[in-house]
Amino acid sequence: MIARMATIQGWFPTFIYNAPLARTGLRAFNRELLTESRQIRELDEAGRKWCRKNYPGGYTSYASMDNLHQVSSTFRTLERRIRRHVARFVAHLELDVEASQLAMTDCWVNMMPSQVAHSMHLHPLSLISGTYYVNTPPGSPAIKFEDPRLDRFMFAPPRMAGARPENRQIVRHAAKAGNVILFESWLRHEVEAGRVRGERVSISFNYTWR
Ligand code: NI
Repeated sequence: MIARMATIQGWFPTFIYNAPLARTGLRAFNRELLTESRQIRELDEAGRKWCRKNYPGGYTSYASMDNLHQVSSTFRTLERRIRRHVARFVAHLELDVEASQLAMTDCWVNMMPSQVAHSMHLHPLSLISGTYYVNTPPGSPAIKFEDPRLDRFMFAPPRMAGARPENRQIVRHAAKAGNVILFESWLRHEVEAGRVRGERVSISFNYTWR
């Protein structure tokens, strides 16, 4: 009797946005971004030095050149294209923020050859973060997200194998060249090492609201 009257609803969801950046022209655009990314690595001596210690085997401009949308017209075009997706995502989240209040604050490139990993982290002091995939050869590892409540599950058994997607505690999104992935900046994520045939190249960014 009671069961018939019961309602079970989901609350406090965590959304992850995944879409092609544009309908056409991504192959040529990605070639341009890839060429520039390699030039940036070439130029960025301080960044390469930082990576030898902090990003072994790979390259990221995170610590040295994190405003690529302000120094390159190609990256500025990328920002303009990403902004539309961020506005759509923010609308879905029903945040009381106008599209005109959104601004990209940081934009950097990551180049991960085989066996390079990027451990669990989040992006403090930002609203929306994300990644755009430039080059994803076979074996490119996915981006992995973690249930943001994990640290509160003190006495919870593991979830059943094959649990419904919304009940899983780890979610992976394949890295696909031409796609943009967005998430709220507090959501922890990582990229595990993989056997990549070539270099997995992505551009990460943060948006704030003002
Ligand atoms: Ni990140």
